[in-house]
Amino acid sequence: MMLTVLVALLHFFTFLASAQQKPNILYIIADDHGWNDVDWHDPTLHTPNLNALAHSEHTVQLDRAYVNQLCSPTRSALFSGYYPYHLGTQHGVFQKLEPSGVPLKYSFFPERLLTLGYNTYIVGKWHLGYCKHDYLPTKRGFQKFRGYYGGAEDYYSHLTDGFEEGTKEEGLDFFHDTPHTFAADWSKEGYYSTQLFANESINFLRSHDSQRPFFLYLAFQAVHAPLQIPPLKYMEGKCSHIKRRHRRVYCGMVNALDDAIGSVVAELRALDLYKNTIIIFGSDNGGQTLAGGNNFPLRGNKNTLWEGGMRINSFVHSPANIKRHEVRTQLFNVVDWYATIMTMVGEKMDEYGDGINQWEMIVNNSMKHTRRRFVYNIYDKSAAIREGDYKLIVGKPGEPSGWIPPTRKVDYASWQDKSQKHWLFNVKHDPNERHDLSARKPKLLHRLMLQLRKWSTSAVPSIHKATDERGSPKYFNGTFASGWC
Ligand SMILES: *[C@@H]1O[C@H](CO)[C@@H](O)[C@H](O)[C@H]1NC(C)=O
Ligand SMILES: *[C@@H]1O[C@H](CO)[C@@H](O)[C@H](O)[C@H]1NC(C)=O
Ligand SMILES: *[C@@H]1O[C@H](CO)[C@@H](O)[C@H](O)[C@H]1NC(C)=O
Repeated sequence: MMLTVLVALLHFFTFLASAQQKPNILYIIADDHGWNDVDWHDPTLHTPNLNALAHSEHTVQLDRAYVNQLCSPTRSALFSGYYPYHLGTQHGVFQKLEPSGVPLKYSFFPERLLTLGYNTYIVGKWHLGYCKHDYLPTKRGFQKFRGYYGGAEDYYSHLTDGFEEGTKEEGLDFFHDTPHTFAADWSKEGYYSTQLFANESINFLRSHDSQRPFFLYLAFQAVHAPLQIPPLKYMEGKCSHIKRRHRRVYCGMVNALDDAIGSVVAELRALDLYKNTIIIFGSDNGGQTLAGGNNFPLRGNKNTLWEGGMRINSFVHSPANIKRHEVRTQLFNVVDWYATIMTMVGEKMDEYGDGINQWEMIVNNSMKHTRRRFVYNIYDKSAAIREGDYKLIVGKPGEPSGWIPPTRKVDYASWQDKSQKHWLFNVKHDPNERHDLSARKPKLLHRLMLQLRKWSTSAVPSIHKATDERGSPKYFNGTFASGWC
């Protein structure tokens, strides 16, 4: 009798637990993936999986989603909920051998997910500092990490060759970490990272205890430079019609990325995790037109304050919460993910840091918590801010600063009037920033200048530091390992 009651109770509690299962979250971030790097913008590319996801009946597309101009600024804002100019990460990226990281006083939202019972995994790129263990993903909320600490490397060997990095020294940047073990992984040489990271994600999903919700952060290396041809099947046929070599190789890389995303989503279905998983997609900044990427018809490039550097393709896919495909035109900034994701998982948070909760906006098109203004970034003597439909740029927005069709080579010497010090655009009516209004709207210009000055008063100095030989691969068996600062 007693036993039957106990068994019944147990069933009841198991039922409750499963009924209240928190959603799984798969956050996919592509690297340097530009506005024009999807096939619904540039039909010469092939992104059928992304296209189907973005236009599914379970998807809300975020048409005005903004990130920062570069990788480390965006990723630091994503995890902390603060603008990079409040974190000290506003300018540049973390270099190899740099003895610095995102300050530890900022907690990252995966730390909170852990306390809520989530299993948290990260596959791919980190780039938020690595010189000491405390800066690593497995000390900032992730239970398992497979990937690389830095910004760029060879897609096959996982060695960095000094490309965009502070050193010319070569070393392995590929690790397999838990909160207490940090191990270089030499076994993945020869595997193209796009497929490797999809595989690693699938492995995590297969070994995942389905009684618990998961947060999987899948940070692809693709489609960052170097331009490296993926396994041949991606080049044959589909991309051979593209004349410019850079764009042709890039097309294959984008197609491989798309295929990898498709395989991870297929695995979610196979494991019966799909219905309760929220998939978020975005990029860390605009495309690099010097390495095959493209942002046309938007203006500018990665590492510029133009729209092409900071407006991305982004969407939220959720079979459980979204029943009709819609496109949101409300503003969304990367700092909003912290409060939005916490609200998604049931910890309602109207705002956090510099961000606001936009979950009701995404799911129900609610106008209650919408963003009306944001800081694109403030660094050195350059800045851009947004107030409603208007955008003010001050200083040097960065180059290339023109409109670069995917069919054309970048020629940037002629594109910027060096004497111009500020620009004002109505980016709702003029999303491609072709008509500077600063002379025609002096009052508005003045008001936005005051607003910028007000915002700037809370800026903190850059946390970046000169590189330090103590981290040299020669001391770490040829790897860019952690634990030296
Ligand atoms: C991915 O996994 C499959 C099967 O598990 C394996 O055959 C393939 O070599 C792996 N590829 C990569 C790039 O890891
Ligand atoms: C969206 O609206 C429905 C119906 O009013 C409500 O049940 C649900 O809780 C809302 N979802 C969010 C995230 O606000
Ligand atoms: C040291 O590096 C070599 C590759 O150069 C690798 O094969 C070996 O496993 C590494 N040793 C350790 C202890 O990691």
